[in-house]
Amino acid sequence: MLGLAIILAFSFARCASAIKDPAPDWPWFGEPLNNLTVSVGREAIFTCIVENLGPYKVAWLRVDTQTILTIASHVITKNHRIAVTHSGHRTWSLHIKDTRETDRGWYMCQVNTDPMSSNTGFLEVVVPPDILDDPTSTDMVVREGSNVTLRCAATGTPEPTVTWRREAGGTIILSSWHEVASIEGPEMEIIRVTRLHMGPYLCIASNGVPPTVSKRIVLVVHFPPMIRIENQLVGAYEGQTIVLECHGEAYPKPITYWTKPTNDTIVNDNNYRVETVTMGYKSIMRLTVNSVRAQDFGAFKCAATNSLGETDGKIKIYRITAPSTTRRPNARRDSKKLWKGDSPHEKEIAGKEEDAISVDEEIDEEPINFHSSTASSIFHRHFTNLESLAMTILFRVALRLFS
Ligand SMILES: *[C@@H]1O[C@H](CO)[C@@H](O)[C@H](O)[C@H]1NC(C)=O
Ligand SMILES: *[C@@H]1O[C@H](CO)[C@@H](O)[C@H](O)[C@H]1NC(C)=O
Ligand SMILES: *[C@@H]1O[C@H](CO)[C@@H](O)[C@H](O)[C@H]1NC(C)=O
Repeated sequence: MLGLAIILAFSFARCASAIKDPAPDWPWFGEPLNNLTVSVGREAIFTCIVENLGPYKVAWLRVDTQTILTIASHVITKNHRIAVTHSGHRTWSLHIKDTRETDRGWYMCQVNTDPMSSNTGFLEVVVPPDILDDPTSTDMVVREGSNVTLRCAATGTPEPTVTWRREAGGTIILSSWHEVASIEGPEMEIIRVTRLHMGPYLCIASNGVPPTVSKRIVLVVHFPPMIRIENQLVGAYEGQTIVLECHGEAYPKPITYWTKPTNDTIVNDNNYRVETVTMGYKSIMRLTVNSVRAQDFGAFKCAATNSLGETDGKIKIYRITAPSTTRRPNARRDSKKLWKGDSPHEKEIAGKEEDAISVDEEIDEEPINFHSSTASSIFHRHFTNLESLAMTILFRVALRLFS
């Protein structure tokens, strides 16, 4: 009975190890060698299971270089990173410590039968992505309208893919009708760069081996100042407080100032207050006249200057009659109708008002058009936001048309 079992076991051994005409007492492999994938620097362990080793010995070899690494429990190679362990006679493990990329390749577990019998396994050494400093772009400063290419040189095994994104999210506007959330590839080219491209970008390198890495590259777009004014004509009466506003776009950040109708530059004092609110390349220049005086009727100028140019805008103040106390209730009702709520009349009335403004002398006699400065500034802000949105959309459309 026992004899039969042994015979069966050996026939099985023949099949499993695929050894040609083995002697009945030959060893055989318990299971195929597994392929290994390790991150560079980690330890790789191949395990070879040999049944019925008997008097034979297990050796580990590196196939590519035909070198013997270990024989039985002895390390033959001078490579200090190689070790061999065994558990009884059956399980033999090759340890490759602190793996390097050069360790990638085929390894063989060999038994010195004649002919020899062996099993091979592949060691894959993967390397997390890295971004090379030197060939990768640093922060860039370009003129609006020029072409720009940002580069990101990534290494790693397998070869990483590079993705470009805006750090703040949002889309990247490409030349034609293209607006994308991200761009793949080691280079990001922008044809005819605009101020809308300004900001920090991330190039992200990933290859499935953690950690993913990224580099931040800031694109700075230089352009000369531009000034936009919503209300170029402002009616005011003596003693009234008014706020004048100019919208500027410029980069680098411009020097801004206001001038009086006498062409003198305005400095902050009891009657004039100048402030500029800057957000990125946009700024709002605001001049508050606490109490309009006779010398204020005329053209105020807001001006912006940077290294690329200079520009200014004019706002004309014209005289209107101060509201009398008896007329006040009337005027108030007008204000309500004009400025509160979102009635469709609003635009119509605003349009009418502009028509009226173009005839200065008549307005002087028509105090009906009076509205309080508070109402005016509410309207102003409202109108400004709408128009600035419209301008942005127009600008984008224009960009696409001309690129
Ligand atoms: C090991 O990888 C090779 C190709 O690299 C493949 O042919 C072989 O089947 C793999 N062995 C195992 C046990 O997965
Ligand atoms: C930018 O690139 C476009 C398309 O490749 C080309 O036609 C244009 O001349 C380039 N402009 C500059 C300033 O190099
Ligand atoms: C202010 O300067 C403009 C030209 O910049 C000139 O036409 C105007 O007469 C000047 N006004 C005064 C009061 O000097």
